Amino acid sequence: MHELDRLQASCLLEIEDCDSLRKIDLIKNAIFGKNGKLSGFLKNIKGLSDEKKREVGARANAVRAVIQERLEARSRVLEMAELDKKLAAESVDVTLPSRFSQPGTLHPLTKVIEEVAGLMSTYGFVFADGPDIESEYYNFAALNMPDHHPARTMHDTFYINTSADDKGRKLLRTHTSPVQIRAMLANQPPFRFFSIGRVFRSDYDATHTPMFNQIECLMVDDNVGFSNLKWFISGFLRKFFGAPNLQLRFRPSFFPFTEPSAEVDLNYDVVNGKIVFGSGQRWMEIGGAGMVHPNVLESGNVDPSKYRGFAFGCGLERMASLKYGVPDLRGYFESNERWRNNFGFNHATRE
Ligand code: PHE
Repeated sequence: MHELDRLQASCLLEIEDCDSLRKIDLIKNAIFGKNGKLSGFLKNIKGLSDEKKREVGARANAVRAVIQERLEARSRVLEMAELDKKLAAESVDVTLPSRFSQPGTLHPLTKVIEEVAGLMSTYGFVFADGPDIESEYYNFAALNMPDHHPARTMHDTFYINTSADDKGRKLLRTHTSPVQIRAMLANQPPFRFFSIGRVFRSDYDATHTPMFNQIECLMVDDNVGFSNLKWFISGFLRKFFGAPNLQLRFRPSFFPFTEPSAEVDLNYDVVNGKIVFGSGQRWMEIGGAGMVHPNVLESGNVDPSKYRGFAFGCGLERMASLKYGVPDLRGYFESNERWRNNFGFNHATRE
């Protein structure tokens, strides 16, 4: 009995001194394991009388229960302590200064798209869209460029390797003019549409990229003439460039889908290395325009004996470059952070 008392006392001391969960397991094994202290003690009582055995056995069970209870209590304490330690190690100091982060900027094209879309709506033009992957029919034939028309070769077209359907082969659209056809087919005249979107041509140098963006507008009504075209394009460009005195030159030109056709130039001067619009007598081409060809109206299910229209198209990057002085077209598509910081527009300064 004394031995049992001593055993209990020494075990409880050991448990109280234990400072880690891993050691608790070792202690458990050293007491209750096959060769543990308690097991060893019970082996030694074989020689006692049955009555004594019962007495000592009952006492041993009580000792076992006390020790077990202490082990569990100690485990809980140690578990809490370890959790506290872990939480302390992983805690976040919210008073530390934050890491420097670069604020996002608006890509100049995003800015110009917003500006153009805003201006278009003041002229009553509604946004219309078409797919980047077009059919030969919408990109060419419906725009008065039948098979083998020489103008098709002027567009270095990316064809897609799929089988043709009744609208011909699939291709990456070479201009936004196919949106004219889609918009006309989906609506009843009169209408005013504009579109902005990606176009693709197999071309690559400082002034050409295989993908760029175009703006397209189309107005169809029963009494639309070239004067409407001139008035609209002049007002639009003057407002876009913020140059009320901007002069425009409509140079006779050719597009299969417009007749008559013109290329539109605007005047500028270079002052201290910077472009100033609306002064001087230097001219720069900005886009193409013309009266919609009757065949094109017919492709759009519009009766050319009742309606006439004008169309205008130009490059978005070119508009952006001129307005914001971006020198190289390729920068627009390279996602270079330094370039963007130079030409991008901070959200905070967004008008
Ligand atoms: N689609 C022509 C081009 O890409 C531009 C244009 C549009 C010309 C509308 C006239 C009218 O070159």
